[in-house]
Amino acid sequence: MDLKGKAALVTGGASGIGEATVRRLAAAGAVVGVADRDVEKARALADEVGGLALPGDVAQPDAMAMAVDIAEDAFGRLNIVFLNAGITGGQSGIENLDLAGYRRIMGVNVDHVVFGLTAAVPALRRAGGGNIIATASLAGLTGMPGDALYTATKHAVVGYVRAAGPMLAGDNITVNAVCPGFADTPLIAGAKDRFEGFPLLRADDVADAVEAILDRGEPGECWYVQPGREPAPYGFRGVPGPKGSQPPPDVSWADH
Ligand SMILES: NC(=O)c1ccc[n+]([C@@H]2O[C@H](COP(=O)([O-])OP(=O)(O)OC[C@H]3O[C@@H](n4cnc5c(N)ncnc54)[C@H](O)[C@@H]3O)[C@@H](O)[C@H]2O)c1
Repeated sequence: MDLKGKAALVTGGASGIGEATVRRLAAAGAVVGVADRDVEKARALADEVGGLALPGDVAQPDAMAMAVDIAEDAFGRLNIVFLNAGITGGQSGIENLDLAGYRRIMGVNVDHVVFGLTAAVPALRRAGGGNIIATASLAGLTGMPGDALYTATKHAVVGYVRAAGPMLAGDNITVNAVCPGFADTPLIAGAKDRFEGFPLLRADDVADAVEAILDRGEPGECWYVQPGREPAPYGFRGVPGPKGSQPPPDVSWADH
């Protein structure tokens, strides 16, 4: 991958999958903004790769707009945005719902992707196009019993990407999701004993998938990543339409 002359922004860039991807993008020649609420780690990594630390809580409405503005100002352009920060639910999401926890996971896993994409699009248009990749999960493609809230947020990311992809393709902006299975990162460290004997992805495997998506992702595709398998776009099954009908109408809001 040759990214010389390109500028990237990675959220949740200070740890795990984000960190591996920051290193990968920087090694390919890109300048990288590391957005993370862990200020110390973001700064240390940014210093190491010659990038820029962008501290803050990406779940806040103006944080993503600020991160995009600062990165674009500093780098003179923005070509790649990896919306990767995420947290787990920490509760079943079925009984005794902890409202603050519900709002928190929706904020980080869903709001941040929506705020991040809407902030990134004008900057990418100014650059003549580019790539937006959101980290969903295999839990965005199937139910993950045990963490219903996490599953709900990742399905939301998959749905958003699938709809936004075709809408932005005409601007030369390719929007994709990466959907990893369980990966050995601090996110699952608290439950590590439960994965005894189960093959886990390395953060680097997911960075490989991000690289493949940058190389050949088509608008709206959601790529699964599983140990021992080549990452590839997930093949969604079509839904039944009304019997005997024509293709569905275009309900784009831009027409209204
Ligand atoms: N590890 C897995 O098994 C796995 C599997 C599938 C998908 N994912 C997804 O991959 C992404 C990265 O997770 P990871 O496994 O690398 O976890 P991680 O905990 O190692 O990294 C997540 C990073 O996001 C940052 N972050 C969290 N909330 C933030 C906020 N509000 N503002 C700014 N930064 C914030 C954290 O500080 C951390 O540096 C997440 O979206 C996660 O849901 C992880």
